Amino acid sequence: MRFKDKVVFVTGAASGIGRAICLAFAKEGAKVVLADILEEEGVVTVSEIKASGGVAYFIKLDVSSQAGWGAAIDFALDKCGQINILINNAGISGTAFNNVLDDVGWERLMSINAGGAFLGTHFVVPVMQQNGGGVIINMSSISAIIGQSNVHFAYNASKASLRILSKSTAVQFGRDGIRCCSIHPGLMEPMRTSGNVRDPAIRAKFLERVPLGRTGVAEDVVKPVLFLASDDASYITGIELYVDGGYLAG
Ligand SMILES: NC(=O)c1ccc[n+]([C@@H]2O[C@H](COP(=O)([O-])OP(=O)(O)OC[C@H]3O[C@@H](n4cnc5c(N)ncnc54)[C@H](O)[C@@H]3O)[C@@H](O)[C@H]2O)c1
Repeated sequence: MRFKDKVVFVTGAASGIGRAICLAFAKEGAKVVLADILEEEGVVTVSEIKASGGVAYFIKLDVSSQAGWGAAIDFALDKCGQINILINNAGISGTAFNNVLDDVGWERLMSINAGGAFLGTHFVVPVMQQNGGGVIINMSSISAIIGQSNVHFAYNASKASLRILSKSTAVQFGRDGIRCCSIHPGLMEPMRTSGNVRDPAIRAKFLERVPLGRTGVAEDVVKPVLFLASDDASYITGIELYVDGGYLAG
């Protein structure tokens, strides 16, 4: 029970990696606040956590909305009294837009993937400063490190901004007891918003460059997230952790 009585706020919590993160934190004793635009799926996950004896709440949140964040943080504080860990995980795919020069794509990717994490940081840092510290984990990608074809470059730009946002958060708020790191998954199961990356031929080509020779699953990301959020990582901050089967090593 590494997270007994800790309060964890997770965005993009209704599906995929975010949902798996919520289940894992709850299993380790945390109170989990699930935030997502998908209410039905979020509520189902909350029921699942409660059925296995955990504590969880759902709040509908579009992470690109400043007003939405304000209300969601008020909700979390009202229900749980504090926020110890923030997981900025919500995101949309860089293959959601066919044209990599699409300006609407730029706005959406930057406001959700990058802006959402900034707003989370904006609202949660003062709460953590008052509590005497906390941990923020930003879900980036290998797309933060390399250029890629067929991916809207706002995906790369938004994920790269999370990499440096994490380091700046670590540097600026370390003395408040706040740690912050970024996680960089590689080839995983497609996102809900994925486009061409679902194509088996594209996936097979990608996989050829993954030294461990397999696609990552949510659990591969969950364990590093829990490690970085735990006291086992108490002297680790500002790092970027690649969870990519060795892709970036090649
Ligand atoms: N799946 C991959 O291949 C992969 C690889 C590297 C990084 N990532 C990153 O991991 C994170 C989780 O992705 P996933 O694979 O679980 O995908 P997913 O599509 O299953 O989950 C993303 C979640 O974010 C939510 N979301 C989207 N827009 C939102 C908004 N405006 N406000 C609130 N919630 C919103 C979605 O509803 C969904 O529940 C994302 O940040 C993604 O960029 C994924």
